[in-house]
Amino acid sequence: MQKISSLVKFIILSACIISCGPTHRLNTTTYESKKVVEAKYGAVVSAHALASEVGLQILKDGGNAVDAAIATQLALAVVYPAAGNIGGGGFSVIHLKDGRNITIDYRETAPGAAFRDMYLDKNGNPLMDLSQNGHLAAGVPGTVAGIFECMKYASLPFKKLIDPAIMLADKGFAITANEAASLNHTKEDFIKMNTVVPVFVKSTPWEAGDILIQKDLAKTLSLIKDHGQKGFYEGETAALIAAEMKRGHGIISEEDLRKYEAKNRTPVEFEYQGYQIVTMPLSSSGGVILQQMLKMSAMKNISSMQFETPESVQLMTEIERRAYADRAKYLGDPDFYKIPIKTLVSEAYLQGRLKDYKPGVAGSSEVTKEGVIHESDETTHFSVADKYGNAVSITTTLNGGYGSRTVVAGAGFLLNNEMDDFSVKPGVPNMYGAVGQEANAVQPGKRMLSSMTPTIVLKDNKPFIVLGTPGGTTITTSVYQTIVDMLDFKMSAIDAVNKPKFHHQWLPDQLDLEKGFDPEVAKSLIKMGYKIKYRSSIGRTEVIQINPDGTMTAVADHRGDDSAAGY
Ligand code: GLY
Repeated sequence: MQKISSLVKFIILSACIISCGPTHRLNTTTYESKKVVEAKYGAVVSAHALASEVGLQILKDGGNAVDAAIATQLALAVVYPAAGNIGGGGFSVIHLKDGRNITIDYRETAPGAAFRDMYLDKNGNPLMDLSQNGHLAAGVPGTVAGIFECMKYASLPFKKLIDPAIMLADKGFAITANEAASLNHTKEDFIKMNTVVPVFVKSTPWEAGDILIQKDLAKTLSLIKDHGQKGFYEGETAALIAAEMKRGHGIISEEDLRKYEAKNRTPVEFEYQGYQIVTMPLSSSGGVILQQMLKMSAMKNISSMQFETPESVQLMTEIERRAYADRAKYLGDPDFYKIPIKTLVSEAYLQGRLKDYKPGVAGSSEVTKEGVIHESDETTHFSVADKYGNAVSITTTLNGGYGSRTVVAGAGFLLNNEMDDFSVKPGVPNMYGAVGQEANAVQPGKRMLSSMTPTIVLKDNKPFIVLGTPGGTTITTSVYQTIVDMLDFKMSAIDAVNKPKFHHQWLPDQLDLEKGFDPEVAKSLIKMGYKIKYRSSIGRTEVIQINPDGTMTAVADHRGDDSAAGY
């Protein structure tokens, strides 16, 4: 890696344009993030300008939204190592121009040697360091299998989609100021959590414009290019993962890798205010609780209210409280636990959940528990839409920033710390403060409960909004608020993305308000009895709105380096 001053950057610009195919010319040093792009034929919004640009080039080369999403996901694994990944997992929601809606679950799984109390000491006390950091925190990665499941709907050869990522890893790219700060902040953890010091560690502090080159990652991506899914789950890469586990006392085996499967799930689909919402089913809790929250909002006629008034924030907070209480009790991997989904989203059940809601008075999580059923920051999101009528919404993650912070030596990619999304012990909060019960206990092969909520809103069976966000448990509340802001409060996509958000997740019983939230409204909420906590930021929502004339407004969140691209 070498440092490039901003002055020199412009002089050597022409040398730093990498060619990744006939039209794939990426300026890897002096790119800029664009927050709003108006497009006619296709758009991509992601956490990084280079990844959005890769997706755009694929669209321009005749690829469809799925092609562009695959190329964007692979590029993010290189240029956004905090959350873009091949060592993590995620969820894809795809709307195809022929009207089909597809949802792909490539969430990580617990390794075969995992067991229920693996993160408890001999006295039953939780060992959160083990579920959150280092080798034992990693679940079996799902991203590469997810990409190949998505390939069923792609139109271009895989080699073309992965080439830009290989080039970015092999030749390097200039990191942003945010990335430099984040790598510097994580330096000690990288040293502590690795058996071989990874490329993310540098003797002097990283600065904006430094070039990050990832040769090992380029080699792993090339193996995937040449051997497909097996280039990751078998052969050299699998052996390197198993060897890394052995050195660091982790438990992912070559058999776990060989057995991993992405799953094609039945989407969560429902009507809301004349639109059709298509979103992610379990093993993400996102779709189920989004459906609960939107249905409860309609029952209380939220359309008659306005954006972020004491009245609307209180109602939405109480709705969030109830949905997250249900999440903690009932939700987990449906392949391992019988989940009463039909009841949880039924009219009668949700009416019952709202019975004790009192306008103007804060509820309490001591009083409001999960409903009674009588039957058995860091993640990343990107949205893509094309001129053919396809749309793709993908949220993918390593869990925390840089996941377990453990890099597979020789293979160059970070492993997730997704095991922390299991409930390590009933009632013990994970890194997002979320609690869970039996439904989300650790079991070999099981998927840990997620909040990721990639979503597509359709109007007359055509894409209208493609959206999603990172943010742990705040993901679903941010998606919920963005939909209500746009559909009920008639807000522009730009405002819905960028205005302050709020969040309640049942436990802890507090209302989180984002910096910039109206202080007068906050005062009213405190008067009602809410315990307020301020957060510097909530989510990084990426939206593409498809306008009635077919043009697209692509909006990248102002909270990070996020960037929109389109043509
Ligand atoms: N790791 C965050 C989530 O899946 O919700």
